Amino acid sequence: MSTGTTHAVPPHLDPAVWPASAQVGVDGAVSVGGVDLRTLAADHGTPAYVLDEADFRARARHFRTAFAEAFAPLGVGVDVYYAGKAFLSVAVARWAHEEGLRIDTATGGELAVALRAGVPGLDVGLHGNNKSDAELDRALAAGVGRIVLDSLEEVGRVADAAARAGTRAPVMVRVTTGVHAGGHEYISTAHEDQKFGLSVTGGQALAALRAVLARPELELLGIHSHIGSQILDPSGFELAAHKVMALRAELAALTGHLVPEVDLGGGFGIAYLPGEVPLDPERVAKDTARTVAEACASLGTPPPRISIEPGRAIVGPTTLTLYTVGTVKPVSVTEDLVRTYVSVDGGMSDNLRPALYGAAYTAAVVSRAAEAATVRARVVGKHCESGDVVVRDVALPADVARGDLLAVPATGAYGRSMASNYNHVPRPPVVAVRDGVATVIVRRETEDDLLGLDVG
Ligand code: LLP
Repeated sequence: MSTGTTHAVPPHLDPAVWPASAQVGVDGAVSVGGVDLRTLAADHGTPAYVLDEADFRARARHFRTAFAEAFAPLGVGVDVYYAGKAFLSVAVARWAHEEGLRIDTATGGELAVALRAGVPGLDVGLHGNNKSDAELDRALAAGVGRIVLDSLEEVGRVADAAARAGTRAPVMVRVTTGVHAGGHEYISTAHEDQKFGLSVTGGQALAALRAVLARPELELLGIHSHIGSQILDPSGFELAAHKVMALRAELAALTGHLVPEVDLGGGFGIAYLPGEVPLDPERVAKDTARTVAEACASLGTPPPRISIEPGRAIVGPTTLTLYTVGTVKPVSVTEDLVRTYVSVDGGMSDNLRPALYGAAYTAAVVSRAAEAATVRARVVGKHCESGDVVVRDVALPADVARGDLLAVPATGAYGRSMASNYNHVPRPPVVAVRDGVATVIVRRETEDDLLGLDVG
């Protein structure tokens, strides 16, 4: 994906995978955002998530402009909601908002972060398949721009909450189109046999939309469709857009109410390994704009305002995880194969994705020139189980040794946000780098933080 940033990186740091400002210095060490990773490690310790702020902002802007330009000929605007589940902190919520994005939250906790960042309630959306009454009350008190309903039962619950709050709740209805897209079954969300949304083909979507129209405490903004995550084939977006436009027209024919907005969700895939090609937001924007125009023309309805909810594609590639190498151990796998196990000072507690989804990453030694012949290595963590793998298979310099700094790129999305304290390992900090300055935006957890929860 083009982010409008110049990539001055040598060939072994694929710019699709590494943060935009990653560079190899004359002595072979890598810097990001103008900060030498050795200095960063010395000042802030490892493991640490290192986030390229300019890259984050550029990617956020890129989504906004690509979709605005693609839909402008249709005469409709586009709202881009940054999906906070990928990674949310006060700083990134503020950056996203400064770049003209709204914030998509999925829990009261994410909502609290967005509000703490000073994002106006109107620019925040709330999702969730099992929202609590407290979450609904809080969202309404904050005046959120929309609540995305996920079940028929929730229609009544949100209407009741709006009545309690003495307000009218702006809502969308999340529908499932049967389009199955994305990298792994756990992250594909619009096929029928799962917990999210209301089925279009089963009729539940239409029933929920009509139920919303019957409640004066609810303002029906539109229809929401999210088909999955880490999608690299754009055809699913078009298929889903077709189905949603047809549902919108059907509802209008039945009730006279043409919903003003349609959300096409997130799910834009990124490159994790060198050579992988990320989904191009510009191409998806153009293709979906064409689909929406064609579908609406054939249905005889004016096109709706569009919103999207990218998370991974904005934050994923902006961040690398910086580790220090500890134990290095050659393991004889077969008579011909010796695998070098490289243990780092983190693992599945800071990146659950390899263990949970079999996700593949790459890694590189970043504290020195790495010109030795390579060995076949497996990067593993420090946790008490053999599935604690960070990078299953990667070529590392044969002289990789204790004390080297190792970076794993493309960990910005669903890294820190799914991190745990397994084995009582404190979660790493998030350090933002920009113009030669490193700023801690989420501090490292301490043993005191962990013990503070243990009331004995
Ligand atoms: N909107 C909704 C309603 C979603 O459920 C999601 C992701 C997004 C937007 C953002 O999707 P993105 O653009 O980030 O793909 N933990 C998994 C991914 C779970 C995605 C959940 N929903 C992973 O690490 O791959």
